[in-house]
Amino acid sequence: MLRIDVMISFIFSKIVINVTTGRSTFSHIKTNVSDKTQQEAVENLIVRLIPEDAHKFSIIVDGNIAVKDKDVFKLERLSSGVVQITGSTGVSAATGFHHYLKYYCSCHISWEASNLNLPPQLPHVNTTVRAQDRFRYYQNVCTASYSFTWWQWKDWEKHIDWMALNSYNLVLALTGVEAIWKRVYLRLNMTEVEIEAHFPGPAFLAWGRMGNIRGWGGPLSNYWHDQSLALQHKILNRMRSFGIVPVLPAFAGHVPRAFHRLFPNANVIKTEQWNKFTDTYCCPYLLDPTHPLFQTVANMFMEELIHEFGTDHMYSCDTFNEMLPDNRDVSYLHTVGHAVYSGMSSFDSGAIWVMQNWLFVHESTFWTTDRAKALLTSVPQGKMLVLDLQSEQHPQYRRFDSYYGQPYIWCMLHDFGGTLGMFGSLHTINTEVSKARDQVNGTMVGSGITPEGINQNYIVYDFMSEASWRSEPVDLTTWITKYVIRRYGETNEMAIKGWQILKDSVYNFTSIIPMRGKYAITRKPSTRITTWIWYDICDLLQAWKFLLQASQSYQQSSAYRHDLTDLTRQVLQVLGDHYYKKLKQNFRLKNRNQFQEAASTFLDLFQDMERTLRTSEAFLLGKWLNAAKNLARSNSEEEKMYEYNARNQITLWGPNGEIFDYANKQWSGMIADYYYQRWLLFVTSMNASLVQNITFDEAKVARSIFEEVEEPFTFSRKVYPDYPSGDIVLIAQDVMEKWWPKQHCRFARDNDFSFKDLFEVSPTVILV
Ligand SMILES: *[C@@H]1O[C@H](CO)[C@@H](O)[C@H](O)[C@H]1NC(C)=O
Ligand SMILES: *[C@@H]1O[C@H](CO)[C@@H](O)[C@H](O)[C@H]1NC(C)=O
Ligand SMILES: *[C@@H]1O[C@H](CO)[C@@H](O)[C@H](O)[C@H]1NC(C)=O
Ligand SMILES: *[C@@H]1O[C@H](CO)[C@@H](O)[C@H](O)[C@H]1NC(C)=O
Ligand SMILES: *[C@@H]1O[C@H](CO)[C@@H](O)[C@H](O)[C@H]1NC(C)=O
Ligand SMILES: *[C@@H]1O[C@H](CO)[C@@H](O)[C@H](O)[C@H]1NC(C)=O
Repeated sequence: MLRIDVMISFIFSKIVINVTTGRSTFSHIKTNVSDKTQQEAVENLIVRLIPEDAHKFSIIVDGNIAVKDKDVFKLERLSSGVVQITGSTGVSAATGFHHYLKYYCSCHISWEASNLNLPPQLPHVNTTVRAQDRFRYYQNVCTASYSFTWWQWKDWEKHIDWMALNSYNLVLALTGVEAIWKRVYLRLNMTEVEIEAHFPGPAFLAWGRMGNIRGWGGPLSNYWHDQSLALQHKILNRMRSFGIVPVLPAFAGHVPRAFHRLFPNANVIKTEQWNKFTDTYCCPYLLDPTHPLFQTVANMFMEELIHEFGTDHMYSCDTFNEMLPDNRDVSYLHTVGHAVYSGMSSFDSGAIWVMQNWLFVHESTFWTTDRAKALLTSVPQGKMLVLDLQSEQHPQYRRFDSYYGQPYIWCMLHDFGGTLGMFGSLHTINTEVSKARDQVNGTMVGSGITPEGINQNYIVYDFMSEASWRSEPVDLTTWITKYVIRRYGETNEMAIKGWQILKDSVYNFTSIIPMRGKYAITRKPSTRITTWIWYDICDLLQAWKFLLQASQSYQQSSAYRHDLTDLTRQVLQVLGDHYYKKLKQNFRLKNRNQFQEAASTFLDLFQDMERTLRTSEAFLLGKWLNAAKNLARSNSEEEKMYEYNARNQITLWGPNGEIFDYANKQWSGMIADYYYQRWLLFVTSMNASLVQNITFDEAKVARSIFEEVEEPFTFSRKVYPDYPSGDIVLIAQDVMEKWWPKQHCRFARDNDFSFKDLFEVSPTVILV
């Protein structure tokens, strides 16, 4: 008990309580590191990024330049030629540095490639830039599983640098939380066996944390727990050294099944079945938050968590994610909210409950305004921070009147399942963020990104990451032009034209239809797939042609090669939809010859897709699998299990395809050994039924596909290369010659803009 007392007095001494409106309760939310430490963190980042030129920059962190808790950075080239960057926090200084690289040196940093060729003499600068909001938030609870599962410290180090450079100052940090839970469960007298049956495997932790599944892909070894704890310490230390506030988890009520054995009188509810998971792997219990034991467990967890990791008072907690409360009463919902908050605040009086609004989107009919209000107002104003999770498509802040006074963050949820496929809502993001911020009596306090998976559509993330630093929409045409130049390192008219077309087609997604990365080639074969795109295929083709025409300028650019691969992939994906539609129609009409023609064309496309993807490091199955294996001790049972986890997540997602293809990946290796094999089997059976004039037993074929392709793939140990091969410029030329559609495309956009207008922008026009 001593530990708790010490902890509490420690916390009280740090907190300045500031109750009032939603906008001003965050003054105690900052990491407990000095300006000097933050300055050093940024200096080290610069050395990691540009070792040769690092001495040309001088960093100062000075908390006093913040304006009403909002970040500020100043850039000034001194007479010595050194560029001095002063930031109100480490994050802010790193952002200033990145801003200078982007908009004064035309450099670019992205997940897949970077262009860091600085001019020999650093350009003149003398400016101050202010953030419009208090927070920039990053991560979805699923990102940990779809993107970070197999990461080691070197991956994290690079990514935390990316977070700081892109100004994220409030970031989810859930690594190693299972180890903390294990301590709590042991204290509750659960057995090792019961605990092992509870945690899912490494690739499925996110859904165990949310109470959706249990045990699937597990168990977790002590080796795993030890490794993740050590990793989390490094992650937290590094984040805090930049001034990034990590968001830690709190107790939402989900407990292992064994809880019932230990506390038979506690009020536990078996959670609803999630997706198609059967009882073996679904449905842990939810301990009723209004039951006194809830506070006991919450306290134990807070004690273990804070003892291990310390705290910055921000806690992620979602009790009803993708599941309904079993009591519809508003007074009950109010009591629940209050109890969940007490579970944090009775231990840490400065606690702020960070809640995803996903329940209001996913179960929108249950969550009427009355019920939502009951939950949202059960916590003192400003003690809850709502993540408006997919504001670019399903904003909820208007429906709930700015969350009845609780502050919220405008988040872009751009990706589901880490699937690939070009899309984005650049125009919407450009206009809506500042509109929400400027709303009268609105409670928006930040912007952020909450992708389920990263590593796709970098342009959208680059654009969104600047949202907090601009007070009004920018001219997107100019922005894109500069993006292309800095990404590829040279000006090329064709490339710029290509991207301008993409901006208004692929990247002007305005629909509210869920966009889940499901295209004919990556979907489970069926005769009932409907395909759709929101843009004109001719636009895509024209952009592709323009980008390819720029190849001479960009021989040195790996970002260019990546994008050419991505665009070729996108074209093949869309053509795949087209030939699928043709084969489906002709099958229905029993046009044997036309069916066979469309079918063999469709199958042929997979070969070109495979060799296209093989050229780029970002599209290799081998990278994902090797990362999984590298995390285990070699040749261990664990290695086998990690590989199985890695393969299952991106295919069947569950033992029997419970959420099949949700996290599908257009990767080299996946195309040849998974997607192609499935379709080959399916199309061959369709063909046989036409040739032999017998009924097509689709269900039977689906079973064969499961038995012969899908399940064996998840158990396979075949090794795939994790290095690229082939020249995408040659392959794209080849693919273009072969696949360019015979029907006429009206390239309407050809004369929509003139190149001259595009390029004549001042290279120092900035964000604000
Ligand atoms: C930058 O601008 C400020 C105020 O406008 C001025 O005082 C300062 O001397 C300038 N610095 C340089 C290096 O030009
Ligand atoms: C666990 O078991 C021990 C020994 O039987 C008992 O003293 C303790 O109270 C139990 N803990 C809980 C949380 O029930
Ligand atoms: C904003 O809040 C003030 C004070 O509560 C109120 O008087 C005013 O009507 C509100 N304005 C709008 C547009 O809701
Ligand atoms: C983006 O799409 C919307 C909806 O289809 C359309 O109204 C708008 O004109 C498009 N914007 C551009 C720049 O093409
Ligand atoms: C369809 O069957 C015919 C006859 O067996 C064969 O010649 C043809 O290659 C098959 N086509 C496809 C696409 O399977
Ligand atoms: C196919 O079989 C059906 C009956 O099963 C028959 O009516 C039809 O004539 C047959 N078509 C051909 C081309 O043999």
